[in-house]
Amino acid sequence: MDGLERDTAVTTLKQPDLGNSQDSSTPHEAAAPKRHLRELGINLNHWYVVAQSKELGTQPLAVNLWHQPIVLYRDRTGSPIALEDRCPHRQVKLSEGTVEGDNIACTYHGWQFAPSGSCAHVPYLEPQQKLPTCQLRQYPVQEQDGFIWLFPGEAELAEQQVPLGVPEWEHLNFIGSLTTIDVQAHYSFLIENLMDMYHGHLHGGAQVWANPVLAELKADDTHVHAHYDAESYYRIDKIWSASQLIFPSLRQLHPEPLDVYYYYPHWRSTLGDDFVIYCLFCPVSETHTRAYLLHFTSLERFPKLHKTPLAVRRFVKRAFTNSASFVLRRLVREDVLMLEQEQQAFEQHPTYRGPELNRALTAVQQLIRQQAEE
Ligand code: FES
Ligand SMILES: [Fe+2]
Repeated sequence: MDGLERDTAVTTLKQPDLGNSQDSSTPHEAAAPKRHLRELGINLNHWYVVAQSKELGTQPLAVNLWHQPIVLYRDRTGSPIALEDRCPHRQVKLSEGTVEGDNIACTYHGWQFAPSGSCAHVPYLEPQQKLPTCQLRQYPVQEQDGFIWLFPGEAELAEQQVPLGVPEWEHLNFIGSLTTIDVQAHYSFLIENLMDMYHGHLHGGAQVWANPVLAELKADDTHVHAHYDAESYYRIDKIWSASQLIFPSLRQLHPEPLDVYYYYPHWRSTLGDDFVIYCLFCPVSETHTRAYLLHFTSLERFPKLHKTPLAVRRFVKRAFTNSASFVLRRLVREDVLMLEQEQQAFEQHPTYRGPELNRALTAVQQLIRQQAEE
């Protein structure tokens, strides 16, 4: 690495613009107050994760994405359907109803709605009556890499974007562990936490890297990439390597590159070649964020294993799936405590502006504002 590399968008930023002050560039006009970073919305024209595939079975599932109650269900082919979770008849929740073939039936009077969102059946329709012409909002939705991805913005733009790929989910050379994050805080607090490799102090021995130094920062209008030079004891190249994760006395630090990416609106990080982690976002409101945290350990360093029958490799993958979830849960617990304190402190002191020394967070804040105001 040859030092800090930043594009103009980042280099022009002198300090984080949290939006505490009014825009003074138009002194003769009444400038609209800039919204505070912690109150900004999301750019709806992206794919967000709303559920795990396995959470969506034969019953309707209620989810909430940025103030929008949505009901998910599967049609007869198993494809996910996403509709506004509000019966057009009396506005009760459709998610409390049932799936009837390809339709969803409201629990109150049994009206049925097709995957297109139109009314398909009313049980007590009289011969001279026509079906009501109500129309539920239908959301673009797709299933990929073990998750249900939903596009909450303008439907015609959905094909211009692709969900963030998680190829390790199905790959037999990667062992995955998952936990969920449910935090009463603005999503910006969570993504800043994930991009800030200087908060290892909080996690003590549960964190597998040490001594990070921000060495390179790149940003454009869709992503931020922070490269840290770091050290780690994490290298899974022997059967017993995983024991280092449990017994601190076996740990030996070695230099390892640590890269963190904010691919708006999601996050990915790698530590050397053996460690990949994702955070897939589902922001619920300005004060509530849900997300899925996924960690993968690579088995690339075990070539003999790759030559074993597929059934064996599948068994190994299944047997070790979620073996690191307990560590993820601890990390999340510790982070959530901090994020909720940050949110509460912001609400009590909304104009306070603390010093921030990590330039990666400046770039993240700039991208959040740019995307939210697009
Ligand atoms: S409220 Fe849904 S069918 Fe009447
Ligand atoms: Fe953390």
